[in-house]
Amino acid sequence: MPTYIVIIGAPGAGKGTQAQMISRELKLPHISSGDIFRENLKNDTELGKLAKSYMDRGELVPDDVTISMIRERLTRSDCVAGAVLDGFPRTPSQAEALKQMLIDFHGQVNVVPYIMVAEEVLIERLTGRWTCRAQGHVYHEKFNPPKIAGICDLDGSELYQRDDDKAETVINRIRVYLEQTAPLIQYYRREGSLQEVDGTQSIDEVKANLMKAIRAKEL
Ligand code: AP5
Ligand code: MG
Repeated sequence: MPTYIVIIGAPGAGKGTQAQMISRELKLPHISSGDIFRENLKNDTELGKLAKSYMDRGELVPDDVTISMIRERLTRSDCVAGAVLDGFPRTPSQAEALKQMLIDFHGQVNVVPYIMVAEEVLIERLTGRWTCRAQGHVYHEKFNPPKIAGICDLDGSELYQRDDDKAETVINRIRVYLEQTAPLIQYYRREGSLQEVDGTQSIDEVKANLMKAIRAKEL
């Protein structure tokens, strides 16, 4: 059976940072809905243009668009053994849609690590974040600086600051998260798959605890 891991947490909690590491360790593809939207934006596709109008305001892209995009991604051959999902699902109806599509793939959501970080930490994390142009690798000018400023350690590409990391957009993203995404915590707790992980420790400590939480589910 394939293994599906869904990482949830507020904007800036560390979902992308952790998902990248866990995906390497478990040899499962990392699927980030935000990264797919940004890739489309870079390639100037219709989907990218549509997504940008929502992302710039810190609002969610409509469920139907997001759900069909993820369904298409999960049917690709690199996902036969499962995937590490980051940023999807983000609403209870996306979670229901995911549940249905995984039944089609003879799988289910196996474990949902929830990275917990207090709200006041998020803004500092996001305003100091630098992201790699080529593959979305994530750095922080203070907490996880690259070896050479402005250059990705892993692929040598340029680092940039995301448009939606401006303080006023960050505040709206956190509001949207609390209203529309936080209900997923209860949803997955009821499903029995939620694993709470303290996200305020160092990146390596969070990773170790996350791997422990994932292994506790005996995938
Ligand atoms: P998305 O790209 O998913 O953004 P997000 O959820 O707001 O999350 P972030 O990527 O900002 O944070 P993260 O948790 O990944 O943190 P990171 O690891 O980078 O979505 C963007 C937009 O796309 C949405 O607003 C929406 O419009 C749209 N969208 C995406 N998915 C959608 C969906 N399913 N439905 C509808 N719309 C959707 O870490 C942050 C910083 O902190 C980094 O600098 C990092 O180095 C640092 N850091 C990480 N861990 C630590 C640590 N332990 N200690 C210190 N610093 C740390
Ligand atoms: Mg991210």
